[in-house]
Amino acid sequence: MSFRARHLLGIEPLAPDEITTLLDLAQTYAEDNRAGRTHRDVLADMTQINMYFENSTRTQASFELAGKKLGADVMSIAMQSSSVKKGETLIDTALTLNAMHPDLLVVRHPSSGAVDLLAQKVNAAVLNAGDGRHEHPTQALLDALTIRRAKGRIHRLSVAICGDIAHSRVARSNIMLLGKMENRVRLIGPPTLMPAGIAEFGVEVFDNMEKGLEGVDVVMMLRLQKERMDGGFIPSEREYFHRYGLDRDKLARAKPDAIVMHPGPMNRGVEIDGTIADDINRSVIQTQVEMGVAVRMAAMDLLAQNLRAARAQTAVAAGTR
Ligand code: CP
Repeated sequence: MSFRARHLLGIEPLAPDEITTLLDLAQTYAEDNRAGRTHRDVLADMTQINMYFENSTRTQASFELAGKKLGADVMSIAMQSSSVKKGETLIDTALTLNAMHPDLLVVRHPSSGAVDLLAQKVNAAVLNAGDGRHEHPTQALLDALTIRRAKGRIHRLSVAICGDIAHSRVARSNIMLLGKMENRVRLIGPPTLMPAGIAEFGVEVFDNMEKGLEGVDVVMMLRLQKERMDGGFIPSEREYFHRYGLDRDKLARAKPDAIVMHPGPMNRGVEIDGTIADDINRSVIQTQVEMGVAVRMAAMDLLAQNLRAARAQTAVAAGTR
């Protein structure tokens, strides 16, 4: 099997063949989900704990659904009402849960690097559900599966990622995945929302949206991450929409069959015109949500296989098998 990772902490450590393996399995799960077929034996002996230290709708619901579809015992902890509120640290919380022997830990945290740190302290396979501005690997994988289904491939495409690049873990994970799969990536946004040194990632940078969208296959819009902004990064939402919001005139610069994506949650009339978001001929936003379940099923299936293999090896080494 070409998926060697012990945890899914980011796209950065994954090799292209591991990404392809995961997408192929997710494609199978997507078809099975549509056909109503279930696979409740895949994680039948496993416990999955979900910990969200930051709000989520799509990621939290789809990880929970994915675990249940695969037969895991799934437990979601409301961190807002946990002992974290009494001052318990992330690591102490992780060690406490580790003592209950979970197999899969799904974690979202507002601090970049927090999920990697936690993974070093526990025996479970850890899945990063988004950490600060760092990575959101399952979002990039579900975006890749959505693109592959719409375009028939996930290489040699021209993809524009537009908006608040500086604060976006979605952008970071997508830039890495699309680069590993040999696509051309353009970043479009105001200079105030473009991280310094980003051109080193092998991307083209534009502050003019009309020019940046010229001839692209995929238009990926991003949310303005106001919760990560501690100052005035844009003059006003009205001005931002005028220059960087996706409307019909700007979309006309892309290829006629270009697809429109947004990871959600969307701010209609700020990042994207609502009629484009709802246009079933251009927008694949609902497909992104659907693929989120399939990708998370595939990720947990592959990590569980590696976890079982590692445990079997340990048992052999200890002479208990
Ligand atoms: N795209 C995404 O991560 O959405 P949620 O914050 O709703 O999980």
